[in-house]
Amino acid sequence: MPCSPNISLTKSSHSKLSETDFSSLVFGKVISDHMFIADYQNGAWGDFRIVPYGPMDIYPGNATLHYGQAIFEGMKAYKTKKGDVLVFRAESNARRLNESAKRMCMPEFPEQHFIEALRSLLDLDREWVPQEKGSSLYIRPFMFAMDNYLGVRPSESYRFMIFTSPVGAYYTKPVSVKVETNYTRATEGGTGEAKAAGNYAASLYPAQLAQQEGYDQLLWTDGKTHSQIEESGTMNVMFKIKGTLITAPTGKGTILKGITRKSVIQLAKDWGQKLEERFLTVAELQESLENGTMEEAFGVGTAATIAFIHKIHVNGKDYFLPESAADAFSKHALKTLDGIKYGELQDTHHWMLSI
Ligand code: COI
Repeated sequence: MPCSPNISLTKSSHSKLSETDFSSLVFGKVISDHMFIADYQNGAWGDFRIVPYGPMDIYPGNATLHYGQAIFEGMKAYKTKKGDVLVFRAESNARRLNESAKRMCMPEFPEQHFIEALRSLLDLDREWVPQEKGSSLYIRPFMFAMDNYLGVRPSESYRFMIFTSPVGAYYTKPVSVKVETNYTRATEGGTGEAKAAGNYAASLYPAQLAQQEGYDQLLWTDGKTHSQIEESGTMNVMFKIKGTLITAPTGKGTILKGITRKSVIQLAKDWGQKLEERFLTVAELQESLENGTMEEAFGVGTAATIAFIHKIHVNGKDYFLPESAADAFSKHALKTLDGIKYGELQDTHHWMLSI
């Protein structure tokens, strides 16, 4: 498909493809050749363009740098054995970006423009989509304020961009997590549900403290009582206790509405898996670890896919989870999602967008 007529194209004169080792991809290190840009001025999006990936000029007074109006998405494209490129649940990301935009007082980027931009960029850089199982092209759409103005108010100009990065696994081995009962990621009425840059900035220090103690990530608890499990730093979380899959509900506005989360919930429903969307208390979590009824714990996210959790720190104690059985729900879900994403299983829910 040629680049959309609404989008101007300046091709890179030097592709980095031949310098890229696709056999040892580290998450987030290599960026593909091109990026999409659109600018919002005087109440409308325009100047849609694809240009070589590279630095851009920003005024020191850029409002994002001071007040943090910045949101982003994470999504992935996969290459099938036949060489077709498929994107997982792109419409969901386009919609979620606009939900974040609303919360952060930013303009929506129309979904049809989002998909058109995505199609044009991926078609141009389709050689960047890795074919190896476990690898994919990570796609980073994002939007930020562009006003060069120091007063605190919503910016009047914005930039929306997409760039991509061929990636391997975000977590290369099962992860260890620490239940956080001191710091807070989100509270009701806050911005926890939005995929806003500031949420990630605020999580870095507590996550760093946990990492210094040897844990990969935090398990965030609610901001009011610190007694209920919410999500992890890079992914939603799910637990299987006494045969029931349990994951935190998203209605309170404190939890990211994960697209992998909703896909795994859909699979659970398809398979008749007993499922509870409810808050698991820290006490219940600890009890299930003490008495051995916790069967599985895993993170679900675009970057993380399904990340098995092998160690959980609660109230000063480390608990180890045995490697999950071959018929574990999480393993079955990962295999099924991979099958759909790489075009090997039937896409019964119409999740894949073909480029
Ligand atoms: C994603 O899973 O796409 C995310 O945005 C999480 C990020 C921390 C890598």
